[in-house]
Amino acid sequence: MKERTYHIITFGCQMNVHDSQWLGRALEARGFSAAPLEEAQVVMVNTCSVREKPELKVMSTLGRIRQATGNSPRVLVGVAGCVAQQLGDALFRQRQVRLVAGSDGISGAPAAIERLLDDPALRLSLLDFTSHYEEREPGAPLPRAAAGHVNIMQGCDNFCAYCIVPYTRGRQKSRATAAILDDCRALLASGASDITLLGQNVNAFGQDKSGDGTSFRALLDKVDALPGLARLHYVTPHPKDMGPLDVAAFGELDHLCPRLHLPLQAGSDRVLARMGRKYDAARFLRLVEELRRARPDIALSTDLIVGFPGESEEDFQATLDMMRACDFMASFSFCYSDRPGTRASRFLDKIAPDVQQDRLLRLQALQDELGDRWLAARVGQEADVLLESRSPRDAAAGNGESWQGRDVYGALVHVPLPAGDHLGRMVRVRIEHAHRHSLVGSVSGGRPC
Ligand code: SAH
Ligand code: SF4
Ligand code: F3S
Repeated sequence: MKERTYHIITFGCQMNVHDSQWLGRALEARGFSAAPLEEAQVVMVNTCSVREKPELKVMSTLGRIRQATGNSPRVLVGVAGCVAQQLGDALFRQRQVRLVAGSDGISGAPAAIERLLDDPALRLSLLDFTSHYEEREPGAPLPRAAAGHVNIMQGCDNFCAYCIVPYTRGRQKSRATAAILDDCRALLASGASDITLLGQNVNAFGQDKSGDGTSFRALLDKVDALPGLARLHYVTPHPKDMGPLDVAAFGELDHLCPRLHLPLQAGSDRVLARMGRKYDAARFLRLVEELRRARPDIALSTDLIVGFPGESEEDFQATLDMMRACDFMASFSFCYSDRPGTRASRFLDKIAPDVQQDRLLRLQALQDELGDRWLAARVGQEADVLLESRSPRDAAAGNGESWQGRDVYGALVHVPLPAGDHLGRMVRVRIEHAHRHSLVGSVSGGRPC
């Protein structure tokens, strides 16, 4: 074990990934450095409870940490994130755990870690929700990267019947516009040119008591105008809150990319109503039409749940029909799972796991078809690719070096290039062929710019 080193294990959504990156940078600003699990003095597990068996995952991760660190009492282990918020102090039953930090509490984790290292007898829990979005200590400078994320809110007020997020992340709290813009400017100054705005229900930005009067569309306009920005994205919008101005933005803003992750969840009106999603299939289809009118080439992806309580084969077929009608280029799909405290967990008409599994496989086969078709249609087209990193060896085409990046639709593109550092460059390529989940392009028009 090396003094003042840390290791963070992260599960869950982009917001957790973002929180973990911040925690790492905050610890670095306090003199810590990153280390492999076996050598770290501080090990944090940032957890997710949205699906599956989160407690089991945490327990098995704690077991892995015990093994890797020889169960040394000198190693400080903490649990953060949504399972920490959900289970709270019960996590102290695991003797090695000395810090439990919930969704808002994580902002106090760097200081708590220092205290815990000074006092080996101490255990701390940070579980209170704050009433406003609390700014965090800035941390060490951002690492060099082509793209970055900026949090615009915390929590969610929607209480979809199946979802634990409003309980684990708390009520919606919008961040102040000035702080968001500062973060965006810092990212751009660090060399990134691609920004994704993050939140659980981004279109509702500003519509809570923490909001500063700026609407989501006004925020988009402000970020879009920042010098140095090449690409702007956001995740996740809620269909019920996508207003006409949000739709129009796809035709009006210079840098907003023609790709939207728009969670549908289910295609049957009966299921959508029981889920409490507050839109029906017709409204969703209208929204898709409006989006395509604003930006004809827009690529749509989605989240889908199969086997929600009471879902009949006919309901499930309605989901498949909607997938075809919306022509999703990609989707994340999940079997419904009970989450403690949610409305759906009390519904009695649960669907048997083998039926859920069968539906999931059929849905994923259709998605593969739609995804393959979308990727195949790109072959022969020109694309601007923002290079993010060297391709893993097995994805590289040919003998030379291959880099990977994203096109304007967020598709992964591998590009053979002369050896060198191409991070952050935008290259124009011709798409040569399509793999299962990515494309291969070759630089057209001479030298990479
Ligand atoms: N705020 C986003 C994402 C929330 S969680 C939204 O509203 O879409 C990410 C995804 O996990 C959800 O979109 C949903 O598809 C899935 N999910 C959430 N709770 C679930 C549950 N109990 N069972 C299965 N999937 C679930
Ligand atoms: Fe969960 Fe619904 Fe909120 Fe998304 S909008 S985080 S699915 S409650
Ligand atoms: Fe998971 Fe919490 Fe994100 S439950 S999906 S880590 S908000």
